[in-house]
Amino acid sequence: MTTTPVTRYHLVLRILHWTIGVLVLLQLGVGGLVLSEMPNDAAKLIPLTGHVSVGLSIGILMVLRLIVRLKSQKPPIATAGNPALNGLRKATHFLFYVVVFSMISTGVGVALMAGLFPTLFGAGGTLPENFHEFPPLEGHEVFATVLLVLVVLHVAGVLYHELALKDRLLTRMGFGKPRVGKTGGGVAGGNSRG
Ligand code: HEM
Ligand code: HEM
Repeated sequence: MTTTPVTRYHLVLRILHWTIGVLVLLQLGVGGLVLSEMPNDAAKLIPLTGHVSVGLSIGILMVLRLIVRLKSQKPPIATAGNPALNGLRKATHFLFYVVVFSMISTGVGVALMAGLFPTLFGAGGTLPENFHEFPPLEGHEVFATVLLVLVVLHVAGVLYHELALKDRLLTRMGFGKPRVGKTGGGVAGGNSRG
């Protein structure tokens, strides 16, 4: 049975893409600019509870996203007209999943070692003096840097498609009426992906 190729990602995937995108940027900002600069006193409990809750929610949304991604029909591969750039796109998309899950598992590792869950969600108590005594925090920091690099590469790639190739790549993740771009309309050639 043949199916008509789609021009955009599944609606649920598009909603999840932008929701997760905003939450991940929020986590990077709050973690790197706020939490890491605060002493571990009572004032940190609320922002830290927020960070842990949003982080765990991202984990659930990512699992949902992975399921929808595997089960839904994707638009044809958007080629950048260059094998190296195409390889970079594939690697970046794949690494997003790996690195976001790594952020969550290292975060959970710190939380378990520091006994954070009871402190933040009911039993009360105080925070450890410093989270750096817990080794998974080092991984959490390294993965945060890698994630930031991936976001920069990803946005640069999208801008390259939009501004140089003018193939309206953004419409594949957008919600407006699909528009046709210079090189074929956000569906630039190629075959349907698996
Ligand atoms: C933390 C932020 C972000 C993350 C984690 C992220 C992740 C991803 C991933 C993994 C994909 C591949 C589709 C999939 O497997 O689900 C994707 C596609 C896409 N993203 Fe993002 N994204 C982020 C931010 C952005 C931003 C800021 C833009 C716009 C400038 C953007 C525009 C797009 C577009 C247009 C696609 C479709 C690309 C294609 O079809 O090849 N994303 N994103
Ligand atoms: C995508 C999800 C997440 C992102 C992007 C993220 C990002 C960050 C960043 C950038 C930092 C600052 C690291 C530093 O400079 O020292 C941080 C700290 C931290 N994160 Fe996350 N995080 C995420 C999920 C989680 C989860 C799920 C947990 C726990 C269940 C968690 C627990 C922590 C803890 C305990 C710290 C240490 C705070 C401090 O230094 O005072 N994170 N996170």
